[in-house]
Amino acid sequence: MGDDALHTERLRLRPWTTSAADLARLTDIYRRDEVTRWLGGPPSVPPEELVARWASLRARDDRFCCWAIECHDGSVAGTVLFKPLPNGVGEVEVGWHLHPDSWGHGYATEAARAVIQRGFEAGLPEVYAVVRPGNEASMAVCRRLGMQLLGRIRRWYDVELEAFRLMAPTVVE
Ligand SMILES: CC(C)(COP(=O)(O)OP(=O)(O)OC[C@H]1O[C@@H](n2cnc3c(N)ncnc32)[C@H](O)[C@@H]1OP(=O)(O)O)[C@@H](O)C(=O)NCCC(=O)NCCS
Repeated sequence: MGDDALHTERLRLRPWTTSAADLARLTDIYRRDEVTRWLGGPPSVPPEELVARWASLRARDDRFCCWAIECHDGSVAGTVLFKPLPNGVGEVEVGWHLHPDSWGHGYATEAARAVIQRGFEAGLPEVYAVVRPGNEASMAVCRRLGMQLLGRIRRWYDVELEAFRLMAPTVVE
């Protein structure tokens, strides 16, 4: 699907790299309990391995990626991901993991809107978000995106999650 970066009004979304700055930022995001408590704990692999896994996700199918959310000043707010749900039957999820210093600016919603639109342009009919019960900030992002709450579902991560879905707009020929 061409260019590696996606641009929005305030953000540049580009693949994470193994630069020292990216690895330090990933470390600082995923060591924080206020982030990882909503992800089922810290990642099981070091940041270099996360970057490698995300690169291979995209190499296998470039509809999917985990992007670094870069602001105009070059700082990185966090990750926006767009990838198949584990144990699913082809469902695709959008997700957001921001450093607490970047919460409260609308970056997660702006980044997610762009990757969802990219996915719909690639022909995907729908996208899901799955949120741990009680994660009000994340459910608010889903609502801002216009996602519909389906209810609590235990299917993908072996834990009960609030599932949201957004259908691609219908194209009128
Ligand atoms: C979930 C998470 C991404 C939400 O981040 P967020 O910054 O609250 O979400 P948004 O990007 O939608 O920003 C909305 C906030 O920015 C504010 N905002 C400020 N300037 C804005 C602007 N120019 N445009 C839009 N919103 C703006 C909004 O008013 C809103 O603030 P409020 O919640 O106080 O009303 C963040 O809390 C997070 O990373 N949490 C830890 C990881 C996590 O839980 N991930 C989800 C797992 S399912």
